[in-house]
Amino acid sequence: MVSSTRRTTSSLSATTAAAIAAAAAALMVSVAFATAQYTPAAPGAAAAGAAAGATPAAPYTPATPGAAGAAPSVPAGPLDIAQLGAKGDGTSDSTAFVLQAWKNACNATGTQKIVIPPGNYLTGALNLKGPCTSSIILRLDGNLLGTGDLNAYKTNWIEVEHVDNFAINGHGIIDGQGPLVWTHNQCNKNYNCKILPNSLVIDFSTNVTVRGITLKNSKFFHLNIYESKNVVIDKVTITSPGDSPNTDGIHVGDSTNITISSTTIAAGDDCISIGPGTKMVRVNGVRCGPGHGISVGSLGRYKDEKDVEDITVTNCTIKGTTNGLRIKSYEDSKSQLRATKFLYDGITMDNVSYPIIIDQKYCPNNICSASGTSKVAVTDIVFKNIVGTSATPEAVTLNCANNLPCQGIQLHNVDLKYAGQGNTTLSVCKNVAGKSSNVAKELACV
Ligand SMILES: *[C@@H]1O[C@H](CO)[C@@H](O)[C@H](O)[C@H]1NC(C)=O
Ligand SMILES: *[C@@H]1O[C@H](CO)[C@@H](O)[C@H](O)[C@H]1NC(C)=O
Ligand SMILES: *[C@@H]1O[C@H](CO)[C@@H](O)[C@H](O)[C@H]1NC(C)=O
Ligand SMILES: *[C@@H]1O[C@H](CO)[C@@H](O)[C@H](O)[C@H]1NC(C)=O
Ligand SMILES: *[C@@H]1O[C@H](CO)[C@@H](O)[C@H](O)[C@H]1NC(C)=O
Repeated sequence: MVSSTRRTTSSLSATTAAAIAAAAAALMVSVAFATAQYTPAAPGAAAAGAAAGATPAAPYTPATPGAAGAAPSVPAGPLDIAQLGAKGDGTSDSTAFVLQAWKNACNATGTQKIVIPPGNYLTGALNLKGPCTSSIILRLDGNLLGTGDLNAYKTNWIEVEHVDNFAINGHGIIDGQGPLVWTHNQCNKNYNCKILPNSLVIDFSTNVTVRGITLKNSKFFHLNIYESKNVVIDKVTITSPGDSPNTDGIHVGDSTNITISSTTIAAGDDCISIGPGTKMVRVNGVRCGPGHGISVGSLGRYKDEKDVEDITVTNCTIKGTTNGLRIKSYEDSKSQLRATKFLYDGITMDNVSYPIIIDQKYCPNNICSASGTSKVAVTDIVFKNIVGTSATPEAVTLNCANNLPCQGIQLHNVDLKYAGQGNTTLSVCKNVAGKSSNVAKELACV
């Protein structure tokens, strides 16, 4: 039972890694394409603002960090998509109206607010590109629905790219309508599978807030943060069935200073996954489940991966997931990197299959050689105040490589009971050094 559960977990996670890589590759293509398509603001936009008497002459200049402080100009056209002609009837195509509102806001100055009013607005790909001369707030009072027509997307659904000082807020829903297309996901059968669109992607952006909204039934990942800085995800709800394919809640890669707080995530894959090149992540007050838990990794799959450093996960509840707190790296890693300075503090587990798991020998079928020479160093990882129940007896798994043992692993006040009957929890540990305090001896393997 145990090994079959773990195999299932491994193969799903392998597809996720492949998915991320493919998505990243696809992203490069889309960025190149986007750059070719990007047309700078027509001088008319600024002129229109000036003509309306809003601001003193505001000639078009590329966005600067100072944009946030600039006086607001009158945009060249409406920012409310209903005023632009969108119909919230759930079936009319609203794509062009959202893109027009974006263009109007992006080419203005100061803070500009785009409004999605109550209603259900169906769209295809929404490439919300910067740089913008304004700071934009996207107010979501209504719902955005991603069409089930896959031809309407190049890669992702809503893609915010090169946009600084941007916020999405409101109580509306970003509904990926995944059930219409999940059967097209072949990632459990084909390693080089076609990736379905991620719902909300934030790329190459600084100072971004996503607050209050719900992301539902994404076709692939719900929220993907890549090459971005100073991002806050607060009071967000992410919801999709536990058996929906690759519907990770939030994935973060190559990014710095990311806060995820007071957020509830039910997903078919990792609730939160943190990829290579990510530093300063603060996760607090997250409820996760169903799903595959809060993961760092997979690390070492590709060349030139950067360290993962300074991650804290505090005050979270994880319920009914396959893993709880997981760090995984490939046994035959292609890059040399470090996973270091992580603190997990104040986590309640409720019937989680593998509550604490470091797997430095991650090697799903057919994609690595299991050579046993890990190059991903796992050091200085603290698990503190981790309580609750485990769905399998194996509550603590620290499976490290003999050529590069895990160092500085600490367990303090870890109290995990078996949720089933006729057994007790235990730890399974290899090649690990560190210390523990206030942990029952069956779990205290360091
Ligand atoms: C991000 O916000 C900080 C603090 O408000 C500001 O100093 C900085 O210029 C902003 N960065 C960009 C790229 O706009
Ligand atoms: C991290 O991001 C938050 C929110 O944008 C910001 O207030 C804070 O100043 C940033 N910290 C650093 C060290 O950049
Ligand atoms: C713990 O998380 C809850 C949300 O789940 C939040 O309301 C509360 O403020 C958090 N407590 C601390 C001390 O951060
Ligand atoms: C715990 O989870 C397992 C599946 O992982 C399930 O079979 C079992 O009923 C759950 N137990 C409780 C007490 O919820
Ligand atoms: C308890 O669980 C361990 C680990 O899964 C297993 O090896 C052992 O046989 C179990 N003991 C009983 C009495 O079921």
